[in-house]
Amino acid sequence: MALYSISRLVLLFAVACSSEASELSRTIRQAPPNIFTVGNGEQCLGTDRSTGGVCLSRNQCNTQGGKAIGFCGVFATCCSLNACDVRTNTKVAVFINPPLNRESSGLECSYNVEINNNNVCQIRIDFETFNLAPPTTVEPVENVTQRPGYTCRNDIFQVTNLQANSDFMPPLCGDNNGQHMYVRVNASTNSRSIRIHFNIADRNTQPNLPQATWKIKVTQLECFNTLGKYRDGLLQAITSSLPSSPLSSSADRDEYLIAPPGCLQYYPDRSGSFESFNYNRGAGPYIANLAYATCFKRTPDVCGIKLTAASFDMAYRSEDNLYLDTDCQMNPFTQGTAQSEDYLFIPESQTADGLRGSKFCGASAANQIIASTPPGPIYVHFHSDNLVTDDVNEYGYRFNYNVLNNCNLKK
Ligand SMILES: *[C@@H]1O[C@H](CO)[C@@H](O)[C@H](O)[C@H]1NC(C)=O
Ligand SMILES: *[C@@H]1O[C@H](CO)[C@@H](O)[C@H](O)[C@H]1NC(C)=O
Repeated sequence: MALYSISRLVLLFAVACSSEASELSRTIRQAPPNIFTVGNGEQCLGTDRSTGGVCLSRNQCNTQGGKAIGFCGVFATCCSLNACDVRTNTKVAVFINPPLNRESSGLECSYNVEINNNNVCQIRIDFETFNLAPPTTVEPVENVTQRPGYTCRNDIFQVTNLQANSDFMPPLCGDNNGQHMYVRVNASTNSRSIRIHFNIADRNTQPNLPQATWKIKVTQLECFNTLGKYRDGLLQAITSSLPSSPLSSSADRDEYLIAPPGCLQYYPDRSGSFESFNYNRGAGPYIANLAYATCFKRTPDVCGIKLTAASFDMAYRSEDNLYLDTDCQMNPFTQGTAQSEDYLFIPESQTADGLRGSKFCGASAANQIIASTPPGPIYVHFHSDNLVTDDVNEYGYRFNYNVLNNCNLKK
């Protein structure tokens, strides 16, 4: 009870100190609340009288990646949180799909994220909600058992306007709730912005496609800590230009989230779970033509990672074997032969059954506990080709992980 009151007091104090709250008290004293509405989250209409939004202060609207579409009293703006063409430079922005009826005739949404300040080196995009049409392949042809891989042909999510050609980001679609990705940015380039693009297919001509919904959180991460700032993993001493006040906690939080270079996904926590794109609760299929690294934090005490497969079902090249290494990718390389090259690369692995290898395909990681104890970065790397074969599953995987700090016990 006492604790509750104290925390309430602290909360009240914090609220009272914010400028919004002082605006609020001014408003209540000075004017009828129906005219001087402040950012209170009430529904409102834009100036065109057809688009809806919520009343927020200009600052709140910006922070949430919203777009001002009208007035909401003196201190607030009618803020559309699901506008489709947004430009923002806030450190954190949230983008939500527009009202679903608008996708009926197809939709393009572009979010331009401008770099907030010169220390920003990575942008983390969290897919809090991400349901797009699934990847597809072509219709089957009689007597032909192989088809092109599953790619995003209807709805497409892609990040473009990247600052290095080598940073190509794969187009994504399907069910990616809870997934995330990292984009490397370089504040020294001229464009200083990336573009996050949703291309949503016409539901009138394809009524069977599921509704497209998304809520993505975009966080600009600053490579900056008490020792200096990191640029692509290189520490640059900035002691001469260190601010006199201690660094903010947001800088510390950013440092925790900074991914090693080259990682599309990064899991800084010591345990958790991860899955393939469009895992779709085990039904897949995973997306063709992908090659990306999923990385984990290697703190000084960490010597490896333990992976426990909740589910693992990928294509394979060669049957009747262990579904490891050359069963997953032909060796030597021969041009012109269509053979599966789908696998999850888990470096320096040993399974609880005593098998060693690095490339896992088929069901070789299913029901397995795998210890991966590589020197260097802790990561796995997904590779998919552009081929599906009838009766061979391309469902994908989901793993639970724990980093290891005793690698003599490989099991
Ligand atoms: C498929 O194969 C069967 C048996 O070899 C053959 O009779 C049939 O004509 C083939 N169909 C096509 C479309 O090639
Ligand atoms: C960032 O861009 C500038 C200007 O194009 C270039 O000189 C610099 O090497 C880039 N930095 C990184 C880390 O790519």
